[in-house]
This record gives sequence, structure tokens and C-alpha cells, in this order.
Amino acid sequence: MEWLLQHAADVPGGVGWLGPGERAVLARLRLAPRRRDWLLGRWTAKQLVARRLARDGRPAALAAIEIRSTDDGAPEIVLGDATAPYLLSISHRAGQALAALAAAPHRALGCDLEPVEARDPLLVQDFFAAEERAAVAAAADAARIRLVALIWSAKESALKALRTGLREDPRDVVVVHATPAAGWRELSALHRPTARRFDGWWCERNDAVLTILADGQPTRPHPQVGCA
Ligand SMILES: CC(C)(COP(=O)(O)OP(=O)(O)OC[C@H]1O[C@@H](n2cnc3c(N)ncnc32)[C@H](O)[C@@H]1OP(=O)(O)O)[C@@H](O)C(=O)NCCC(=O)NCCS
Repeated sequence: MEWLLQHAADVPGGVGWLGPGERAVLARLRLAPRRRDWLLGRWTAKQLVARRLARDGRPAALAAIEIRSTDDGAPEIVLGDATAPYLLSISHRAGQALAALAAAPHRALGCDLEPVEARDPLLVQDFFAAEERAAVAAAADAARIRLVALIWSAKESALKALRTGLREDPRDVVVVHATPAAGWRELSALHRPTARRFDGWWCERNDAVLTILADGQPTRPHPQVGCA
């Protein structure tokens, strides 16, 4: 399992690094924040895929790697006429984007990036399962904001791995295990209606929580350095 974090400042000007299909999508995006997020997400995903395929990062090489949205919104990688045999997940938020990549035997992957910041209490009240609400209520003040970011990020990662997103009730995904330790820490979430379990990792970087969840038993993300 591989991941990459990029910032808005990393994205070059121009569209030479986008493929024809991607330029057509960009032309339909009218709102500036959505265009910025979409470009940052595409840039991050293409950089990650290029590294995995040992391709260079020049615009022409990146333009040959198209990141398409499937009907449910999940991204897929298209090389020429063929869909590449990798799972890809993207998250973009507040000028940062995270992309994660996995291959067989994994069949489900989701990643998410959430800033560690104060949130509306309704998020916990309406979208957290009972045991998650209890864990948040029991947390010390200093730890609560971080715990809420972690649980919410893990839910979104699991909802992406399920490929339903918020069409699914977020209370049906429950974080069942989160290890506190240095660097990448173990994380698990359970989708109660189907008993599907996703395992993976979380870490903190740049005042944000990063989570990556997959089916099976995902290995610790590469690169292993880079998370506090
Ligand atoms: C998946 C979802 C939870 C992510 O939302 P978010 O946390 O606000 O945004 P993030 O930046 O973390 O993730 C966005 C990325 O998730 C991916 N994504 C979108 N839908 C997805 C799905 N069904 N499964 C997996 N990944 C999905 C996309 O790559 C998207 O980025 P892109 O549109 O630029 O390609 C949300 O987009 C969603 O619920 N989508 C499906 C339902 C829907 O379309 N609802 C409309 C608004 S409620």
C-alpha cells in the first residue's frame, strides 16, 4: 500500500499534465474551489501512480495516466485504452491532498484526510455510532478534537472502500480499533450491515489526520517515514 501527500503549491500551472478526458472534465467544473481541489487530487494521484510505474513526472508522461471517475464517483486509473489493475483512493481538503494505491489481492481501498480542528457537535451527535459518541465524551479536552477527526476520517475511508460514500449511513461504519503509537498506527473499521471489516493505518501530519483502509490485511504504508 502506497500513499502520497501533496499541497496546492505543488500543482503546476497549465493543463499539459492532464489527458484529453481530464481536460474535458475540468472544463465542466465551474466553481474555483472545486477546480482547485479536483486538480490537486488529480495531480497527487498521478504523481503516486507515476512513481509506482517508475514513469517520470514530466507533463507528457503524466498526461498518459488518466484518473477517471467511475459512475459511483470512485477514481480509476486508465493507461491508454486499459484500466490499470490498481485500486486508487483520493482525498482533498484545505489545500492538501492524499492519494493511496493498492494492488491485488486487495479489492477495496479508501483514504481520507481530515484537519484536526474544532467541529460542530452535531457531527458526533448525528453521524457517530453510540460507542464512538461514548469514546468522544470520555476523551480529555485536549484529545477530543483529534479523536473526532480520526473517527470521521476512518468512516470516510471505509465509505470510500465500500464505494458508497455518504449514500451509506455513517453510523453503520464503526471504528473498532485505533492504536496510539508513533508513526503509522493500526486502525480498523467495521461496516455493521455487511460485517465487512477494513484494516489499515492512520497518522498525523501537518495538523491533519490521514487514514487508509483496505480489505484483507494491508501492509504498513510506504514510505514509512514522514508521519509524526
Ligand atoms: C466519497 C465522499 C464521502 C467523499 O467526500 P469528502 O470527504 O467530502 O471529500 P474527499 O476530498 O475526502 O474525497 C473526495 C474524493 O472521493 C472520491 N470518491 C467520490 N465518491 C466516491 C465513492 N463512491 N467511492 C469511493 N471514492 C469516492 C473521489 O475521488 C473524490 O474526489 P474527486 O471527485 O475529485 O475525484 C463523498 O464525495 C460522497 O459521499 N460521495 C458519494 C455520494 C454523493 O455523490 N453525494 C453527493 C453529495 S452528498
